[in-house]
Amino acid sequence: MQKRILTWVKPTSNQLHLWNYFGSILPLFQLLKKHDDAEVFLFIASMHAYTTLHDAAQLQNNTMSVLKLYRAMMQAYWLADEKIRIFNSVDVPWHAQLAWVFQCLTNMWFMERMHAYKDAVAHKKAGEVSVGTFTYPILMAIDILLYDTACVPVWKDQKQHVEYARDMAQKFNHLYGETFVLPEPIIQESVATITGTDWRKMSKSYNNYIWLLDDAETIRKKVARIPTAALSIDQPKNPDEDNIYAIHKHFLTTEEDQQLRQQYIQWWLSYKDAKQALADRIIAFVEPIQWFYNQIDEEALKKMLTNNADYCNQIAQRKIQDVYQKIWFNF
Ligand code: TRP
Repeated sequence: MQKRILTWVKPTSNQLHLWNYFGSILPLFQLLKKHDDAEVFLFIASMHAYTTLHDAAQLQNNTMSVLKLYRAMMQAYWLADEKIRIFNSVDVPWHAQLAWVFQCLTNMWFMERMHAYKDAVAHKKAGEVSVGTFTYPILMAIDILLYDTACVPVWKDQKQHVEYARDMAQKFNHLYGETFVLPEPIIQESVATITGTDWRKMSKSYNNYIWLLDDAETIRKKVARIPTAALSIDQPKNPDEDNIYAIHKHFLTTEEDQQLRQQYIQWWLSYKDAKQALADRIIAFVEPIQWFYNQIDEEALKKMLTNNADYCNQIAQRKIQDVYQKIWFNF
């Protein structure tokens, strides 16, 4: 069987920003290159977004926009539809179906250790989060295990969840015989270093992001607002202490990076020029993505989703039949 890699996007926003690109999309494309023969699933985690987002129109709008963006990026990188199977877990009813079984096999104390819930307890908000937020890692384990996933690229904050999925697979296999593949988390380290336009991590909550759908003028304005040190044109500058460089370096090849660093250190590089170079770079980068985004035919997109849902349903159904037989739900 082909090795399966599973990744996700949670539609809590209707846009993706540069951080999303460098933090999860680019690593996925790189992983794809490295594991050319692997089968990659990318699911839209609408069910997970629903733990906190209850506005139907917003959930629908976010899901559609994020989907279109992913599709546009795949097209901009010439990736065929089957290279990354995008689907929505709500189209595969077996996720929710298996959740009951896993809930019955998971002890309370195990879930109470999960960090999202522990955070809520620490902030004295445990009574206010939804039960879905509490059991969220169970659904996540199912997302992974239903498809015999071998690896899950995650950041450190999700490692605990993948480990729970692994424990769950082990527990089930131990109780009922070989059923689930044990998934491995692939930890991505570097993403936390992507700074926003104010030197903090790029994040929606800081309002310091650059969206992939920002137009050229907006990008120039945002870049112009990046705070810099008070150094004049003829003073050498330390690239490692500069917000403009911190963003720019992600776009550069090693050689280009060396050149830019030299310019900071030795040449007369003004912050104005550094900003202009960065804005040009970002604009050139988002242009093809936006071009493809604007061409997307929503009907074709829905067809792709349906096809992928059919494909995933078949895999998931086989798995659930196996589970049901073993736990004696099929009689
Ligand atoms: N927990 C992930 C997040 O908050 C989303 C997620 C849901 C996920 N199911 C998953 C991640 C399965 C990896 C695999 O972002």
